[in-house]
Amino acid sequence: RVTGIVMLLPFIAGLSGCDGIMSILDVRGPMAEQIARLWWVLFWGSVVLGGGTIALVLYVVTRPHERAPRIGSGMGVMIGGGVVLPVVTLWALLIYGVSLGTRQVGGEEPPALTIEVVGHRFWWEVRYPDPVEPDEYVVSANEIHIPAGVPVDFFVSSADVIHSFWVPNLGGKIDMIPGRVNQIRLQANEPGVFRGQCAEYCGPQHARMAFFVRAHPPEAFEEWLAAERGEAEEPTSDLAVQGREQFFQQACMECHTIRGTPARGRAGPDLTRLGARKTLGAGTLEMSEENIAEWIAHNQQLKPGNRMLPYEHLDEETLQALSAYLESLQ
Ligand code: CUA
Repeated sequence: RVTGIVMLLPFIAGLSGCDGIMSILDVRGPMAEQIARLWWVLFWGSVVLGGGTIALVLYVVTRPHERAPRIGSGMGVMIGGGVVLPVVTLWALLIYGVSLGTRQVGGEEPPALTIEVVGHRFWWEVRYPDPVEPDEYVVSANEIHIPAGVPVDFFVSSADVIHSFWVPNLGGKIDMIPGRVNQIRLQANEPGVFRGQCAEYCGPQHARMAFFVRAHPPEAFEEWLAAERGEAEEPTSDLAVQGREQFFQQACMECHTIRGTPARGRAGPDLTRLGARKTLGAGTLEMSEENIAEWIAHNQQLKPGNRMLPYEHLDEETLQALSAYLESLQ
């Protein structure tokens, strides 16, 4: 009996981590609900099968040995418990799991919105259809805004190696494969913020390849997208004006885009509304003026192997001006 309890301990310990942010059991959308249901079916199925097996083992080893067992006396139990029961349960679970998987991809309803997400080492490029100019995109990075309560289709791909797109509170993960476009449909029931994470090992900073999904009420989403497609506002403070000059002097525009300025680089994340994002470096640091300066100078210590150069040679004043400018982009 003690052995049985000890064997259950990992399950109990595992369950304690199943609450809150990034838990597949903290369900916030219909697609996540299917996965959570499958998880519980598998969990209780294993409890019954595993518990039954442990109980039988305990019964056999603890029962008094009064008489020698006769050959063949347990044949029925062996065939029933060793062949029929596992075959039936495992097939039932397999059919249930596969049917869930195929149902999730389809869905008859047309999506309210389609968003393209491209994985890069180690950040996320996000492309929304331009609400005004057909065939144009509103490009952003490391944060995905969606309307709540409606299905959104994500078309995902990769610019380099295989990544995997995963927002556990909203649904399953999907591989992002170079040269191929995969599709996943997600929906958030209510407005909220959900953390996503790269779920396929893609290099040294795989763990620091996170993003946030912000679900808005539908009208608020329309407003957000209309604002997002616009150009970056002019900096107002002297420091920020100086920072914009430095942005071009230090050749930041070679890699980054800021809409409304000559900065058109595509190698790194779009920075048009950088200050409005929750984090820097795809989830590495909280967004703040101080952290932007920290990131520019020491990003190779903070996220070794990311593709941005460290600007450790910049003096304090230049760093402050740059971060004031970038933070003002909201
Ligand atoms: Cu991208 Cu792991």
